[in-house]
Amino acid sequence: MKKINIGLIGFGNVGCGVVKILQQRKSLLARKIGIEIAIKKICDKDISSKRDVSIDPSMLTRDANEIINDPQIDIVVELMGGQTTAKEYISCALKKGKHVVTANKALLAECGRELFALAFERGKNIYFEASVGAGIPIIKSIKEGLVANKFKCIFGIVNGTSNYVLTQMEKENCSISSAISAAQKEGFAEKDPTLDIEGIDSAHKLVLLTYLAFGKIVSLKDIFIEGISHISLADINYAKELGYTIKLLAIAKKVADELEVMVYPAFLPCEHLLSSVDGIFNAIFLSSDLAGDLMFYGPGAGQLSAASAVVSDIVDLTQDIKAGLFRPTLNTVEDNSIKGLRKIGEFENKYYIRVMAVDKPGVLASISGILAKFGISIASVTQKEKLKSQVVPVIMITHYAKEKNLRTALKMIDKLADIKEKSVAIRIEGV
Ligand code: HSE
Repeated sequence: MKKINIGLIGFGNVGCGVVKILQQRKSLLARKIGIEIAIKKICDKDISSKRDVSIDPSMLTRDANEIINDPQIDIVVELMGGQTTAKEYISCALKKGKHVVTANKALLAECGRELFALAFERGKNIYFEASVGAGIPIIKSIKEGLVANKFKCIFGIVNGTSNYVLTQMEKENCSISSAISAAQKEGFAEKDPTLDIEGIDSAHKLVLLTYLAFGKIVSLKDIFIEGISHISLADINYAKELGYTIKLLAIAKKVADELEVMVYPAFLPCEHLLSSVDGIFNAIFLSSDLAGDLMFYGPGAGQLSAASAVVSDIVDLTQDIKAGLFRPTLNTVEDNSIKGLRKIGEFENKYYIRVMAVDKPGVLASISGILAKFGISIASVTQKEKLKSQVVPVIMITHYAKEKNLRTALKMIDKLADIKEKSVAIRIEGV
């Protein structure tokens, strides 16, 4: 039986998972694919800590060059994370004629264009199934299962930490800081949860999904990114009363010949498929022209879930190697039917607005007057009576309005003497 050697750089949680699967499913995989996958070397800066897999200590090294320069290694699996060193190792591995598997979404989002071009030039491949939704086979599905489709939009809940926090706030009726503490206690959130909570991790994943679905490599700086740190329990509860739930969405939408690419918290109607995706789960909703609306759902993190995706990439590459195939993941020709990215100010949405106003005659008229001046039409309005307070929340749902008009109107509303707090506006999706 043909044997293909792999080298693993990064022996952390997911790396251990990959070793476990390749050890425990060795004969199953060999029977399925007709190839023996052998781990030849494992590199990590820490090779002394005990892990929950047993391996021959002679396989361990602190020097990644022992993998990159080994002519018997065909596939380099990069699971160390970070950017500068990981990029250097991946580039060197490609230059040395090796295929690469990685879960490093931050690196691919920042340097994907360069790394994919290098891989293409060298006739090698970079596979990255574990970088979005861990074990959910979303990348393979877009690339292969849905290859004949054109996509209208992608809506993804691709960050388990922020989804857990929003779910916790809704179910436990708690503030965002208690929800983040709960996520940290459970081991879901990092000590510094900024990347997850501020939508940056979702944006990294969105760059990859957008490329696969729309053939466009978008720079991170061109994505509108808003996290969930400003979402209050009050808004979660008003959303519930109005029949919505708040989710942090990573969205790519084709509108005419432009693409809208953004990460933001949005109201989703409770009957929308994504609204029932709770806790650390991820889901990606795709609207395609041939296969229709599809949703991919599952745990978005976890050792074996992510490792399952890494092993699937390794297996794909072994099949390519065996058949002498080169199937570049990314077509280097971008989709020219997309003329550009739409700027956030031009986006059109329905909005939920909460204005904290003094309860006296004429205040509502002043607010609606300003909205009317900017062409923003109100679909519904509710004033929440607060018996002990002079200041009451006025909750409005608008018809479709342009983002820049909405923001300018809100600035003017906030300058009114009877408005006592900064107003809140949250976009409504899925309607
Ligand atoms: N930090 C990510 C999340 C998991 O919370 O979903 C890894 O992609």
